[in-house]
Amino acid sequence: MNAILETALAGYLAFGQVSGEPQFGQTEIVKYGGVQVIHADGAVTLRLNEISREEIAGDGARQTVIMLKDELYPFTVTRHIRQWDDCAAVETWAEFRHDEEGPVKLVKADSFASRFDAGEETVRVMSLAGIWGNEAYLKTSTLAQGQTLALTSRSGTRDAWESNAAMMIEFGEKVDEESGKALGIALEWTGTTARSVKRDWSGSAMEIFAGVDMTTGPYTLDPGVTFVTPKAVLVWSEGGRGEVSRQFHRWARNHCMPHGHDLHPVLLNSWEGSYFSFTEKTLTDMMDGVKEMGGEMFVLDDGWFGKGKYARDDKNKDTVGLGDWCCNTEKLPHGLGWLADEANSRGLKFGLWFEPEMVNTTSWLAEEHPEWLLQERGRSLVLGRGGTQTVLDYTNPAVRDCLFDMIDETCSAMPTLAYVKWDANQHISNPGSTYLAKDRQPNLWYDYTKGLYELLARFQAKRPEVMVQACASGGGHMDFGFLRYADEFWTSDNTDPFMRVFIQWGASQFYPACAMASHVTDSPNQLTKRVTSLKYRFDVSMTGRLGFELHPNTLSAEEVAFAKRAVADYKRIRPIVQQGDLYRLASPYENTYSSMMYVSEDKSGAALFVLGSDEQGGREARIFPRGLDPALSYRVAEINRGARLHAGIDGKILSGRALMADGIAVSLEGAYDSASFEMRFAEE
Ligand code: DGJ
Repeated sequence: MNAILETALAGYLAFGQVSGEPQFGQTEIVKYGGVQVIHADGAVTLRLNEISREEIAGDGARQTVIMLKDELYPFTVTRHIRQWDDCAAVETWAEFRHDEEGPVKLVKADSFASRFDAGEETVRVMSLAGIWGNEAYLKTSTLAQGQTLALTSRSGTRDAWESNAAMMIEFGEKVDEESGKALGIALEWTGTTARSVKRDWSGSAMEIFAGVDMTTGPYTLDPGVTFVTPKAVLVWSEGGRGEVSRQFHRWARNHCMPHGHDLHPVLLNSWEGSYFSFTEKTLTDMMDGVKEMGGEMFVLDDGWFGKGKYARDDKNKDTVGLGDWCCNTEKLPHGLGWLADEANSRGLKFGLWFEPEMVNTTSWLAEEHPEWLLQERGRSLVLGRGGTQTVLDYTNPAVRDCLFDMIDETCSAMPTLAYVKWDANQHISNPGSTYLAKDRQPNLWYDYTKGLYELLARFQAKRPEVMVQACASGGGHMDFGFLRYADEFWTSDNTDPFMRVFIQWGASQFYPACAMASHVTDSPNQLTKRVTSLKYRFDVSMTGRLGFELHPNTLSAEEVAFAKRAVADYKRIRPIVQQGDLYRLASPYENTYSSMMYVSEDKSGAALFVLGSDEQGGREARIFPRGLDPALSYRVAEINRGARLHAGIDGKILSGRALMADGIAVSLEGAYDSASFEMRFAEE
């Protein structure tokens, strides 16, 4: 492990600990601890001493387990630090347990709480801020001496809004894609998070904290029960931001996502093509359309469930039915099994949308179990989408059992089900539980997320072959906690390719391309009304997991022919995009275009994209590829071709060295132009 990372991981700050060397002859205690408690007797400090240390090795990983115990109270902290042989990521987390006379209150219980000397004058923090339709925007702040930067997300469900659980800390005057020191930290957590970076007055000592947000009140921990923090993943790089990203991507594919090495299918999701307004024929027509374009899967989105007065249809749209996970047979008289068979008979896999954490007050489930809705005693419910939507109490095992059974029964009708989109379109806005005791209400936020994971784990264990897409009103579930159970996330409900250039650039800082769902949709875009070419829409989507979200019947014969060629091109480069190493070549934040390339691990192939990111358009760009083998020769082909070529390089064979040194001159015309290239090892 790198020395800085080792120092950063060496300690764990506890409130009350006597801190290091005396300053000006005076001794002080740690007042910014990662763990802060109120003991059963009301005392508030911790003085932890190491009582054991164990090294465990095996399966390509090494884990250090450090046990710390308070010098006075029967309170222990067990720290875990895990590293792998095949990537530079380190995972760390802590467990708290006690045998005090009564419950202990955890005021703060961080995964990572470190103080170390950065030895640099300049420290910047890069984070991903966002909201619906504008996820993952890069925001960077310079941190002066004596300042603390705090990042929080308090939705409880749409966790990646406000502030994504991942951040990068940059040290020194210049950090770019290729050079400079950077530390990436990402929490594996789908609930509330709090992360902060603090510089002391001298400037060199840094304190970094990351964990569950406890603003709503301390977590009450009973004797003999273990509280496990979310895992934090850390990557240190002295080769710039690009290397931090590549290591996160590799770690995610190798050690986080359930099917991290599978190629993700080209699919069509029904949402933007039909919303709630569909019949069986609409869906089978969509299947025909996507099959013709070379697609591999059809996914039925919202609008297929509910019964009687609460059946979800085109009139009541999003106002009823959540919680009643049975097929709306008035709308789909042949049922879901038939629909899955229709997809399969066309050679397509079938996927289905659920929103399991949510309920409409207008549903049979809410009528039968009003106590299962999160709610605060005596207050009226704060309702969200459709004026009737709220969140189920996932701290309650009976709620999870019921949901599991309902979803399981529905899925059983489709033995070949290959994909589930798991959506969540409401914040926790009624933070109270009828299941938790009166004095345990603040435990809700942490227990809710644990409950969600328990349900996801059960679903995964029952249907390990099913690929899950994490979604929360677009990119609200873009986090590594959910990616333990899912193989991709819906990146944003904003499918305007121009906006996606920025959103996907942000997501790529931490999350791998195979996890980033990116769909070709209508033009004008349904959200922004922007008009873009089909080529531009494809080029942008091909930088992630390509899919469609439109009704293929709206495409002309020429557009279908174009789409067919584009899908064939994508399938050829798919292993490189989805499993290769990402090199970001030109930032849309600094240029009038964005450029990135993916290189296969053995460097025998690469895919390079240049995407206009400026409304004025028309740019000459010289793009310098990276990551190629200088000694190998590559045949370069422009792919996903439109009416004209964008560079005079098509068909040429050039060495990796020449390509990287001389660059490729690319000309973009008009506002939303783009170019894609494939490079393959070629014998000269
Ligand atoms: C929000 C998601 O982000 C959309 O893709 C779609 O699934 C809708 N929910 C359906 O209600």
